[in-house]
Amino acid sequence: MADVQTAHTGYLEPSVLRAARALLDDVFAGEMTDADWEHALGGMHALAWEDDAVIGHASVVQRRMWIGGRALRTGYVEGVGVRADRRGRGVAAALLDELERVIRGAYDLGALGTTDMARGFYEARGWQLWQGPTSALTPRGIERTPEDDGGIYVLPVAVELDLDGEIVCDWRDADVW
Ligand SMILES: CC(C)(COP(=O)(O)OP(=O)(O)OC[C@H]1O[C@@H](n2cnc3c(N)ncnc32)[C@H](O)[C@@H]1OP(=O)(O)O)[C@@H](O)C(=O)NCCC(=O)NCCS
Repeated sequence: MADVQTAHTGYLEPSVLRAARALLDDVFAGEMTDADWEHALGGMHALAWEDDAVIGHASVVQRRMWIGGRALRTGYVEGVGVRADRRGRGVAAALLDELERVIRGAYDLGALGTTDMARGFYEARGWQLWQGPTSALTPRGIERTPEDDGGIYVLPVAVELDLDGEIVCDWRDADVW
């Protein structure tokens, strides 16, 4: 089983961050943009190591979700990927164990935008599909993000969530969810 390291972005060597980015470039077959990677920075990373190779990565960064009239402190999971030849061995589960511990200890809820292939993985871990409409708080005001409806999962922690209600994420460049 791989060794799991957890560290804030600020404590990771540039070479380690480059290795994590390279892994995600492989995992997402070149579809990981600079903005996608930037979204995974500034929080806690969980890295799976096998000898001196990074074979898995996930991170959690702080965002605000406007839900039920409150701006809730949210641990937003980004950059989840395991090297193709190391899947099915519990690596992603070990990474999420660490990140969910951070989320439970530090945030009102967890949230993430999933790929279709990973839905079952998150559901088995207790993440719940947000059923209501999704929006973003843009520089122009709140705008609907219909293309993200049905693709956002949350991990309730400190507050009860009405999964049929509206969820509004804070603003960032490129993909807001
Ligand atoms: C999704 C992904 C991260 C899973 O990594 P992994 O290391 O193979 O997952 P694990 O071996 O830790 O799986 C843990 C459990 O989840 C299950 N699981 C894993 N992937 C699953 C999936 N896609 N659907 C349903 N269940 C899944 C496993 O069967 C295992 O169940 P068990 O505990 O009952 O044995 C990996 O397939 C991947 O990198 N995919 C491509 C990138 C991607 O889609 N990332 C998600 C972005 S949101």
